[in-house]
Amino acid sequence: RTVAVVLAGGTGTRLGLGIPKQLLKIAGKPIIEHTLAVFEAAPEIDEIIVLMATGHVDDARQIVEKAGLRKVTKVIEGGDTRNATTRIALDAVGPADCNILFHDAVRPLLSGRIVRECVNALWTYAAVDVAIPSADTIIQVDENDCITDIPVRSRLRRGQTPQAFRSPTIREAYRIAEGDPNFAATDDCGVVLRYLPGTPIKVIDGSDENIKVTHPVDVHLADKLFQLAAAQAPRLTDHRSYTEELTGRTIVVFGG
Ligand code: CTP
Repeated sequence: RTVAVVLAGGTGTRLGLGIPKQLLKIAGKPIIEHTLAVFEAAPEIDEIIVLMATGHVDDARQIVEKAGLRKVTKVIEGGDTRNATTRIALDAVGPADCNILFHDAVRPLLSGRIVRECVNALWTYAAVDVAIPSADTIIQVDENDCITDIPVRSRLRRGQTPQAFRSPTIREAYRIAEGDPNFAATDDCGVVLRYLPGTPIKVIDGSDENIKVTHPVDVHLADKLFQLAAAQAPRLTDHRSYTEELTGRTIVVFGG
């Protein structure tokens, strides 16, 4: 059994809308509805669990009901931090061994290709991350904003979600983390890396379109990407086909 956990426990302070950003409508639907629809349509996913921000559980339930999302089995309240939300999700999934994909509700442009590759990688690896190369040089700074290091760009990636795990691995990592008073992490692969060192974490290719709606500019970007996807569906499903599409167009322009 493979469960998709949609993490929607945040309130979107950086976007500053007054409502959690996952409820913002883009391309005619709340962001979280786009995200849920990807898992609903993915043949590899058997069940979806939604962790929603305090005070908005009913909003999420209504979205699920109205959209007729039949794989969603639970819509419950998340925690104070992203990792607290993950812990609640682990309890909600239940004790039976399964595959779990954790995905940010605010990445609505996830593709079916990424879901499939995550689930396939779990046959070989107990932990899987999704990432893309960085176009920008990443610099490390100290507390005075002075550069301390410039890691080799070819070895750097920008982490996205889903992050996928065999359930015993992620449970064990969180169990050990519970005993650490200094526990802090912004994602779930980080918890495995820190508390189960030596566990290989496979990285599969994400996509440029799998953006996390974080700042106001991302709302415009996501809206444009949905427009493009609608115009070119079903071919445009992630950046590989997008790039092919752009290349094809360039050839037509110059050839015609
Ligand atoms: N998230 C969660 N529980 C929390 C905090 C975050 O499930 N307590 C989820 C968010 O809903 C989001 C994802 O984790 O889908 C990525 O987090 P982020 O973009 O940081 O979302 P917010 O915490 O909502 O945004 P901000 O940091 O601007 O407040």
